[in-house]
Amino acid sequence: MDKAKRILVTRKIPEVGLKQLEAQGFELTKWTRDRPMTPSELVEHSMDHQVLLCTVGDRVDRAFLATCSHLEIISQYAVGHDNIDLNAATDMGIPVGFTPDVLSEATADIAFGLMLATSRKMFFLHKTILKGEWGDFKPTSHLGMELTGKTLGVFGLGRIGIIMAERCKNAYGMEVIYHNRRANNAAEKALNATRVSFDELLAKSDVLSVHCVLSDETRGRFDQAAFTKMKPTSIFINTARGAVHRESDLIKALQSNEIWGAGLDVTDPEPMAKDNPLLSMETVAVLPHVGSGTMEARDGMSRLAAENIIEFYRTGTLPHMVNPGVLKN
Ligand code: DGY
Repeated sequence: MDKAKRILVTRKIPEVGLKQLEAQGFELTKWTRDRPMTPSELVEHSMDHQVLLCTVGDRVDRAFLATCSHLEIISQYAVGHDNIDLNAATDMGIPVGFTPDVLSEATADIAFGLMLATSRKMFFLHKTILKGEWGDFKPTSHLGMELTGKTLGVFGLGRIGIIMAERCKNAYGMEVIYHNRRANNAAEKALNATRVSFDELLAKSDVLSVHCVLSDETRGRFDQAAFTKMKPTSIFINTARGAVHRESDLIKALQSNEIWGAGLDVTDPEPMAKDNPLLSMETVAVLPHVGSGTMEARDGMSRLAAENIIEFYRTGTLPHMVNPGVLKN
């Protein structure tokens, strides 16, 4: 590089990747406040930078990109990229990197943990202790359900869904069914998984776990019509994006016993209001979007976000790229 490229880092992220970038001669501007930038702050600060290292809370929409079309690369610190208008980035010739794989184990653990916590009402029972309601042994109250031999349905059997399915198969001998646009032959072989229609997934799953990306096709996919087709004993898990389910429909489905329980690491909107009825339901467990929240995963994300930038300037391509078509133009 003749002149040092300037990178705007929009949130505090683990240092490991930032050190790699500094060692390669990049100049970093780090946003240090404990909140995302507002849209106007994002524009203002991006103006004198060639690279944007951003994350899920940053709105990188067409209007932003039209103003900041001078950006040479966007490196997203996340596997999900629904905050970025990819068509607009591609139209403007801006490659977008992301951080897959390194957070798959961590996110699958949260899906698995929410499934178990929901099935045994763990979050609700913990709250009874906090309220001084431990009480005496009641043989028939607050009973959960067992998972052994049940059927796991995966909506979006990709990197994270496969690990969740492996965990469920190994721990509980669960049968695995899935719904994807395309067959995942490797997973079918490894897990003896069966690809089914969306309606079959709804009808047959005891635990239905969502692992898809948020797109026009998946937005609001789990709505009243979908919940009505699920078993009244089923558990719905979402660790992908909150907008894949319709939250008001989910609340109604739980209240009217159309489904039994729900474990959510993602909600719509985020953050969830503290008086949301889901938070006081016995068969619901909610976490504040912490799927990738391990030291290992977050360091890995930092490394990949840096590598995408370093490799782009070294070789002209990104090892982990969301819009490869852009480099053909
Ligand atoms: C992701 O990577 O998409 C997570 O949801 C944010 O950590």
